[in-house]
Amino acid sequence: MSDRFNTTAGWTLFSGIVLLGLSAVSSRYFHADKEQRPEKMGYEIAGVVQEGEGGKAAEPIEVLLAKADLAKGQKVFAKCASCHSIEQGGAAGLGPNLYGTLGANVGSHAFAYSDALKGKGGKWDWANMDAWLTNPATYAPGTKMSFAGLSDGQERANLLVFLNSKGSNLPLPAAPAAAAPAAEGDAAKAPAEAAKEAPKAK
Ligand code: HEC
Repeated sequence: MSDRFNTTAGWTLFSGIVLLGLSAVSSRYFHADKEQRPEKMGYEIAGVVQEGEGGKAAEPIEVLLAKADLAKGQKVFAKCASCHSIEQGGAAGLGPNLYGTLGANVGSHAFAYSDALKGKGGKWDWANMDAWLTNPATYAPGTKMSFAGLSDGQERANLLVFLNSKGSNLPLPAAPAAAAPAAEGDAAKAPAEAAKEAPKAK
């Protein structure tokens, strides 16, 4: 009896040790105890609404530009200034000088652009500059500009107005017809009306 008890206890202890060993090995193998996601993802997925942004994401750039704040845009440019100068004749840094870039041809400054960006061709206008600054890597896959992008539409609009004030001075784009009258009044009413009509359709 006591023999069997010792045997049983022995095997129980032994299998416990084996299990412990296995779990240690497997957790090392699968890195179960480590956070594998990089702290900052390589790129943000376009169209995915960032937390806290809510309905703001849907507002067209023209509307955001109409209420943009140049002084705030100048502050946003601090995020760019480590790589870009913006004053006329400013030197290129990690990125090209940006004086007069809005409205100019893509890749027009004295700078060794990537083929990814140069290959885009055309001129920088409000819409494509907005898309580029939302996520450079999505706009021009393979670009040398290693900047995650600005997910906040109003922040981008403020910045665009600041960029425009540096040698571009393009007229602001006209707001799309639907959103033209007082952004708050009609724009806010439209989704409510749509919601009212939806049940009727059933
Ligand atoms: C880490 C450095 C870095 C940061 C930060 C950065 N850029 Fe750039 N930018 C670059 C590089 C490099 C290029 C050239 C990209 C290429 O050739 O693919 C570039 C290109 C550009 C271009 C195209 C210029 C042209 O002549 O066609 C614009 C516009 C631009 N950046 C704006 C910005 C703005 C605005 C910000 C801040 C919100 C910013 N960049 C932040 C490095 C940076």
